[in-house]
Amino acid sequence: MKLVRRATVGILILLLCLPVLPTALSDAALQRAAVTAKFTSASSEKKIDELLRKMTLEEKVGQLVQYSAGQPTGPGTGRTDYNDMIGKGEIGALFNVTAAREINAYQHLAVERSRLHIPLLFGLDVIHGFRTEFPVPLGLASSWDPDLVEKASRVAAQEASASGIRWTFSPMVDIARDARWGRITEGAGEDPFLGSKLARAYVRGYQGKRLDAPDSIAACPKHYVGYGAAEGGRDYNSVEISEHTLRQYYLPPFHAAIDEGAATLMSAFNSLNGVPSSANPFTLKQILRGEWGFQGIVDSDYTAVAELMPHGIANDGATAARRAFLAGVDMDMVSSLYHDHLAKLVRSGEVPQPAVDEAVRRVLRVKFALGLFEHPYVDETKEAGAMLRPESVALARTAAEESFVLLKNDSMSGKPVLPLSSDAKNLALIGPLADDPGNILGSWGALGRPQDAVTLRAALAERIGAQSVHYAKGAEIIGGSDDEMAEAVRSAEQSDAVIMALGENAGLMTGEASSRAFLGLPGRQQELLEKVVATRKPIVLLIFSGRPLTLPWAFEHVPAVIAAWFPGVQAGPALVRTLFGDANPSGRLVVSWPRSVGQEPLYYNALSTGRPPGDGVDPNEQKYVSRYIDEQNSPQFPFGYGLSYSSFSYGNPSIDKTQLSAKNLNEALQTKVLAQKESLNVSADITNKGNRAGTETVQCYLRLRGTSVAQPVRALSGFQRVTLAPRETKKVSFRLGPEAFAFWNDQQKFAAEPAKVTLWISADSSQGTPAMLEITK
Ligand code: NOJ
Repeated sequence: MKLVRRATVGILILLLCLPVLPTALSDAALQRAAVTAKFTSASSEKKIDELLRKMTLEEKVGQLVQYSAGQPTGPGTGRTDYNDMIGKGEIGALFNVTAAREINAYQHLAVERSRLHIPLLFGLDVIHGFRTEFPVPLGLASSWDPDLVEKASRVAAQEASASGIRWTFSPMVDIARDARWGRITEGAGEDPFLGSKLARAYVRGYQGKRLDAPDSIAACPKHYVGYGAAEGGRDYNSVEISEHTLRQYYLPPFHAAIDEGAATLMSAFNSLNGVPSSANPFTLKQILRGEWGFQGIVDSDYTAVAELMPHGIANDGATAARRAFLAGVDMDMVSSLYHDHLAKLVRSGEVPQPAVDEAVRRVLRVKFALGLFEHPYVDETKEAGAMLRPESVALARTAAEESFVLLKNDSMSGKPVLPLSSDAKNLALIGPLADDPGNILGSWGALGRPQDAVTLRAALAERIGAQSVHYAKGAEIIGGSDDEMAEAVRSAEQSDAVIMALGENAGLMTGEASSRAFLGLPGRQQELLEKVVATRKPIVLLIFSGRPLTLPWAFEHVPAVIAAWFPGVQAGPALVRTLFGDANPSGRLVVSWPRSVGQEPLYYNALSTGRPPGDGVDPNEQKYVSRYIDEQNSPQFPFGYGLSYSSFSYGNPSIDKTQLSAKNLNEALQTKVLAQKESLNVSADITNKGNRAGTETVQCYLRLRGTSVAQPVRALSGFQRVTLAPRETKKVSFRLGPEAFAFWNDQQKFAAEPAKVTLWISADSSQGTPAMLEITK
């Protein structure tokens, strides 16, 4: 019944919006309209019509203008006359204003002083929490836990909305295959399947059950599109991606977020095949609006409209505004070029008036959907009480625990170094990140404050007593003195075991504009590590970073290593619980961990070359194959990898069919009706062989051979976290529907083809016993 109603509303909206939709009322269009219905209604559309009738051209353009009125997050325009502009209805949205009182003050101007009383929309980069900071997105993604991601983004929405922010520029769903790119920390890594699941989870968490609930905020998947493929990993750099690769790898997480109902989307800085993403009608109009039926706001990235000039496709501001707008960018973030030129462009006939009406409609649609017309103000008395609630902080600890990836855990004196024994005393704690409450929050910390964060040093002292923790910084993240280093070595020598907290500076080295050409430990930290290892004490290395770091020496010489990412406000307690075994590591890599920078871009779901190195043959014995002469092809640790204090075995792999038919799969894709029938059940028995409870992330991969377009050597097509008691066995099953076997073919159609299929259920992307089946005609 609910579905029928939703579809009916959808049809209505579709009719209202027909001029902008390229196709007639086909089945696909009806389906798209139902997607739209997630954040609008027929009655809102009617109210929007009424408003549009009353608005002057300048007021319409005003809705498409957005400025940063707080701490800038990019180069500014120098404009500060916001109050005046708001009163005249010349601004539609503000961002970087973060306190309820200030937000209400601006909102009063808009609602009471502007002629048509249209409320402003307030946005912010709420990327991994607002005040309660969760692990950076790359860490959160390492949990492989969509429920957790949804819960964390719900908390972020509750806190942000209590300050009056109703729009977050998140999730970043850019596929990132290159660890040099600083922004790899902001996303879910290299895989489109996992990325799509997590994109949906973020949208559900932010937008809640209803967008007009006061604690819901609009999501903004970004940066559309291809931004993560910046050449050489250098931020903002040009991108070349074929249509096939775009559709198969880079677009799916965006499509998933839109399908989940994301109300807005941000166009990217980068050029894509020569056309800047913020002026690209192919991606913004043909795909986003035409194929996916998106009816929300397209916001440009920060000054991306003005950047069309340095990109070289506009020689003046008016041309930049025209090209961005006509390509499908509704709102101009900070450039001020829509404000300066759009009305003139309409009057001169260079921009059609109906196109402006449509863009305004999309902005108003989101404002209505958020309930801003009915409730423009935020209750200032509730702001403080919404922050850092005990249950939110508890969730931040769980999230941090789930984000840690145990990379190595060798035995010393006959037993694994981790977990530490519960009566361990006399521990040296060394490294610049052991007691640094600012950096552990990660980049894009929103309102996270160092004073809210619990460091490793504080949590360890709490656990074993300050007198048992021999803390010595040893080095700065960059720099440090010989004396500091000598003190750290002495402290290691006097202790039974050493915990080292090394890594990156979150603000300087990770996130936007923080690409690195070298991925080792910065400053003197490698030297510090080697000196401490020379003491021959048991050592646990905790790597705090926004990306995988190339540390081959550490992986050879340090017995236990954990990728801790930047864990957020509960870094210390989560790490201490993990070190002592109260929490059993369950994180798995969402990026291939390189051995050397020269391997980048590095990703597991690559194509085979025509000359792959032979299996089981020493690569050094092989010439004329695709390999480096001075480095292995394989990563240090593969995608999906991660250890636990338990160990798991995989048995009885089984598939319920050895043949599928391409014809049936394609029919199922079209109609969805046969999907149940034309699917494959894959299962395996997973046993916890250890003596403590643990969580394994069981992964399902497949490869297709004999297809019109080459398919990757493996592609993730399912995953499940299973928690097993000691010696418990569970059967884990995956039902692979037609989408798992379909791909973007040589006709740019998403379809299945006859192929030989290899399937693995495995603990990561490099292992597992293959099972074979065939897709016939
Ligand atoms: C530029 C960044 O690319 C984007 O991710 C962010 O949302 C905006 N600045 C706003 O701060």
